[in-house]
Amino acid sequence: MTSEFLQPRPVRRPRRLRRSETIRRLVRETRLTPDRLVLPQFVVDGSGQEIAIGAMPGRARLSIDRTLAECERVMELGVGAFALFPAIDPRLKTPDAREALNERNLLCRAVAALKKALPESCVITDIALDPYSSVGHDGLVRDGVVLNDETNELLARMAVIHARAGADIVAPSDMMDGRVAAIRTALDAAGFTQVAILSYTAKYASAFYGPFREALDSAPVDAPDVPRDKQSYQMDPANAREARIEARLDVDEGADILMVKPALPYLDVIARLRQATDLPIAAYHVSGEYAMVKAAHAKGWLNERACMTEALTSIARAGADVIFTYAALDFARWFREP
Ligand code: PBG
Repeated sequence: MTSEFLQPRPVRRPRRLRRSETIRRLVRETRLTPDRLVLPQFVVDGSGQEIAIGAMPGRARLSIDRTLAECERVMELGVGAFALFPAIDPRLKTPDAREALNERNLLCRAVAALKKALPESCVITDIALDPYSSVGHDGLVRDGVVLNDETNELLARMAVIHARAGADIVAPSDMMDGRVAAIRTALDAAGFTQVAILSYTAKYASAFYGPFREALDSAPVDAPDVPRDKQSYQMDPANAREARIEARLDVDEGADILMVKPALPYLDVIARLRQATDLPIAAYHVSGEYAMVKAAHAKGWLNERACMTEALTSIARAGADVIFTYAALDFARWFREP
């Protein structure tokens, strides 16, 4: 049968390589595996504690004993790296965040216990004051201003005590200028030349951090002389070129890994940094990104497994080598099932 609309026969037919699952797998450009994921984990004091987080179905604040059990289970499924965040007792939070410098604080005890129980794990600690601050900022606040250089001094001391507790990687998430250099200098002076710095290079002043701030009760407080948001230090969501400026500074200051955060709304920034440096790039698929998929799944509006896998694959495709995600355990399970 001949068509009256004679078409040229295409020589190139991309569909040839989409014909079967076996062929598709053969030519797949991005392969997501559990070993490039980092599971963020919230820790609380006490024992036998598991406190649900409303906006993060499936994730909970766990006491140290429960954290060890959870991390062991996760490692058996192929995820070996953990980012620990302490939910500090509100009575220990002060304007100067001094609990951050207590060598026996919850975070340091959790790091030491985890490295002792699971020496093969990679433990990443967050360097910022917000979990310990009664005003909910990443830096020291004076007269309505988040102080830069004074904060760096505390961050550098914090990094040293985390290293002493056994942290493999310290991750400054505070966005103060010059903090990577301050931390590198302090770590080296204390003999921790082997401890790596994963810098939150391009961390945006994002509304997607809501569920995380609920988990740690760490949002900026409504009080006189306390900035209501983090826009004077975290980046403006409208800016992409500026991420390259931050990246250059972090590389020069000695960062080992550069991170973009959040992930999905900033895939263009991940791709730009991938072009700008040969260092590994990390991306943080943040609490709000996780919550959206979980909420839509609970309503029967989206398929969680398909959407979460697509989201994480897209982050890897954009250029992230390492992905922080609350769905790490979910993905590791799905990865095993057909
Ligand atoms: C704070 C910090 C935040 C996150 C990681 N470290 C919140 C903030 O900047 O207010 C957010 C992570 C998430 O939303 O999953 N230093």
